[in-house]
Amino acid sequence: MGSRTKTQYVCQSCGSSSPKWVGQCPDCSAWNTLVEARVDASVAKAAAKSRGGGISGTAGGRVQSLREVDMRETPRTTTGLSEMDRVLGGGIVPGAVILIGGDPGIGKSTLLLQVLASVQPHLKTLYVTGEESLTQVHLRAHRLGLPELDLPVLAETGVEEILAQIAQHRPGLVVIDSIQTLYTDALDSAPGSVSQLRECAAQLVRHAKASHTAVILVGHVTKEGAIAGPRVLEHMVDSVLYFEHDPGSRFRIIRAVKNRFGAVNELGVFAMGDDGLKEVSNPSALFLSRHEQPVPGSVVTVTRQGSRPLLVEVQALVDRSLVGTPRRVTLGLEGNRLNMLLAVLHRHGGIPLGDQDVFANVVGGMRIQEPAADLPLLLAVLSSFRNRPMPNDLVVFGELGLAGEVRPVAGGEERLAEAAKHGFRRAIVPEANKPRKSVKLDIEVIPVARLEQALAVL
Ligand code: TYD
Ligand code: MG
Repeated sequence: MGSRTKTQYVCQSCGSSSPKWVGQCPDCSAWNTLVEARVDASVAKAAAKSRGGGISGTAGGRVQSLREVDMRETPRTTTGLSEMDRVLGGGIVPGAVILIGGDPGIGKSTLLLQVLASVQPHLKTLYVTGEESLTQVHLRAHRLGLPELDLPVLAETGVEEILAQIAQHRPGLVVIDSIQTLYTDALDSAPGSVSQLRECAAQLVRHAKASHTAVILVGHVTKEGAIAGPRVLEHMVDSVLYFEHDPGSRFRIIRAVKNRFGAVNELGVFAMGDDGLKEVSNPSALFLSRHEQPVPGSVVTVTRQGSRPLLVEVQALVDRSLVGTPRRVTLGLEGNRLNMLLAVLHRHGGIPLGDQDVFANVVGGMRIQEPAADLPLLLAVLSSFRNRPMPNDLVVFGELGLAGEVRPVAGGEERLAEAAKHGFRRAIVPEANKPRKSVKLDIEVIPVARLEQALAVL
């Protein structure tokens, strides 16, 4: 086949392509995001083929019985940081492609340099930098106390050249810092555009699967909080990790939002210091502000992030609204959920907040995505509204239904044990999460089945 080129229009927001230009992307509904891209037909076909990013490549392509398929677990390589291993589901799997996203300056390059330093003695590695000069990389290594590190590095942004170098040096782990700086000769669109991003990632994914090389791609997060050209990359890779932090805090959280080789929502916690990132292996108390005196509007809950229970403080501020439509603002919690909960509080608790602004926040930059925070959030709201603090030694968890019922959450006993371990003495929990008699916990459990009961307890 010759090198037929064809023209496509690629959405710069979601990466979908269409054969003709339209004002609104048919996939993500964004306006004016379609950009002309000329694609070499053979390349486009190959890219489409690898888009699914199958786990062990497509080599062979022969139908076989499942029984014949080797199911031995491939050994994982530890990253040398147990918090990182935890997020990855136990270490790096050969041939895995991992995308790490996060704001600029959050510590992606630092973390990966540390990982490479500890992997290099066991597995050949390669660090490809498209953003910083090799001198800057060396300076960082120096700062991290790894000045004489025997680490193969490459400053290059052409993906064909990078693949050639990989083929020659045969590393077991490659870090690409960052995927946004790469370009491929196969496309004539500008570097950084979604079609370039997708094609470069596709080529790397294909190589990773064919050669069982693990690849870590660094991706930048855009203003909207997604890795630029995110959806296109997220489904091509095996794992997606996001770096999160609270501005001004030295703590960094890494969360797995997708993982073919481990649990999702698993968290790793690090602290940024003068010599790089240090793991925080017992992070539970980090997300509490530990007030001297109990303060109104603050309730401690136990959330489950991946496989780990974590104590976090939910705060609310309720204040007389000065505008016609009262404000509902959430940080680290879901806004719609707050609106729903306020309606439940009104209907089933008889507490109207229609003329009040409600602000809700999770301390320490943590994000809670599970409904177990419903009850603590409402109690925090109520505590602020009435200006009455909740006891210092109380934890609360439970999901609320629209009928005012308190629903059980997963891992109740585990959550109670974590709270008891950190010195909490009382817990308001869903009736169905009441521990079995045989379980001895050093905490007084107050089971509630309905919102009214929880309000009566207070
Ligand atoms: P970096 O890894 O370059 O971030 P990213 O690759 O995500 O853009 O981290 C940069 C920040 O981290 C920078 O503000 C300096 C700080 N830092 C430390 O505080 N301690 C250290 O040991 C290092 C290497 C960086
Ligand atoms: Mg960087």
